[in-house]
Amino acid sequence: MYKTKIAGIGHYVPEKVVTNNDLAKVMDTSDEWVQERTGIKERRYGEKHKETTASMGAKAAAIAIERAGIQKEDIDFIIFGTLSADYYFPGCGVLLQRELGITNTEIGALDIRNQCSGFIYGLSIADQFIKTGMYKNILLVGSEMHSMGLEFSTQGRNVTVIFGDGAGAVVLQPTEKDGQGVLTTKLHSDGTYAEKLAMINPGSHGGYHFDKLGIDVDFGYPDEEYGEIFTTQHMLDNNQLYPNMEGQFVFKLAVQKFPEVINEALDEVGLSATDIDMLVPHQANLRISQFVQKRMGLSDDKVYNNIQKYGNTTAASIPIALCEAWEAGKVKEGDLVCLAAFGSGFTWGSALIRW
Ligand code: UT7
Repeated sequence: MYKTKIAGIGHYVPEKVVTNNDLAKVMDTSDEWVQERTGIKERRYGEKHKETTASMGAKAAAIAIERAGIQKEDIDFIIFGTLSADYYFPGCGVLLQRELGITNTEIGALDIRNQCSGFIYGLSIADQFIKTGMYKNILLVGSEMHSMGLEFSTQGRNVTVIFGDGAGAVVLQPTEKDGQGVLTTKLHSDGTYAEKLAMINPGSHGGYHFDKLGIDVDFGYPDEEYGEIFTTQHMLDNNQLYPNMEGQFVFKLAVQKFPEVINEALDEVGLSATDIDMLVPHQANLRISQFVQKRMGLSDDKVYNNIQKYGNTTAASIPIALCEAWEAGKVKEGDLVCLAAFGSGFTWGSALIRW
């Protein structure tokens, strides 16, 4: 069986820099609060009506394709992770295909909705296809245009200050080189707390049509909380068109699950934390990354963080950070790279890659 290697990597962030002070002009927050609680100094926002989740993904993908030394026509499968899709449907995978000008219809395009762990889920899926020899050049993209869907008021401040826009991409290929490639991926989920970090509308739980037909269906959601009637006005009135998060609840689970899932991967391949050359954690909060670093006993040079510049870019955060680390020469051939993420769902996961 083959192993999966990252043959090319790229990232793209929009030019527009938005500082904490910029946000403080439209909501009750401060540079001090945001930096102290999250580590974030600034984030990027895509250009209105010009940039989209798919177009940013395509820019990152073009770099990854070039660095892999292949042509876009060589791509035989696309995997696109995002929570901020351009359309409700179709997904961004086909939009990216179009944006890149890939006219080959022999290929498949898969969209995954695993939020912060989207990149690791995507990597795990790609790994299965490559190991079996089914595909030879998988394009895996994580891209987010959060700025189009955030609540720019004090009511949404706990979420809005965190998120930023950007995209990262990798080209994955088979390798037979001894020891090289993805060693393992670990995926987890727990739907118990799905609404703790969620944007629940527009959604299919309203029961509006059932009410109209006189059919009584109990979806198990309290109507007053999640909306009985599926109308835009109802959603607006009830603050349901924006992401919501119970920050402390998510934080407490994140700091528990990150080390757990990293250790699970290390145990499986018979390695330990001291073997890690570079940990690239999903950039959710600098305090979470620092906690994980401490728990894993890693020195500063073995953990890559860039949340200070970009905020949390969800499915894009790991490939952007990994790309920057690689460009800076902090990830070299033979290094053991560890990726880990936790987020909405809840879903979480890890990957170990021998570069
Ligand atoms: O990537 C997916 C996974 N996401 C995460 O892992 C995020 C995990 N959670 C977090 O990172 C943190 O919980 C937050 C950064 C979201 C919030 O930080 P916190 O230290 O947990 O603050 P908090 O939610 O407990 O709020 C503390 C206070 C509250 O005021 P009161 O009730 O004490 O008066 C909030 O209303 O801070 C207030 N607050 C703000 N103040 C200024 C919340 N957001 C802001 C804000 N600016 N942006």
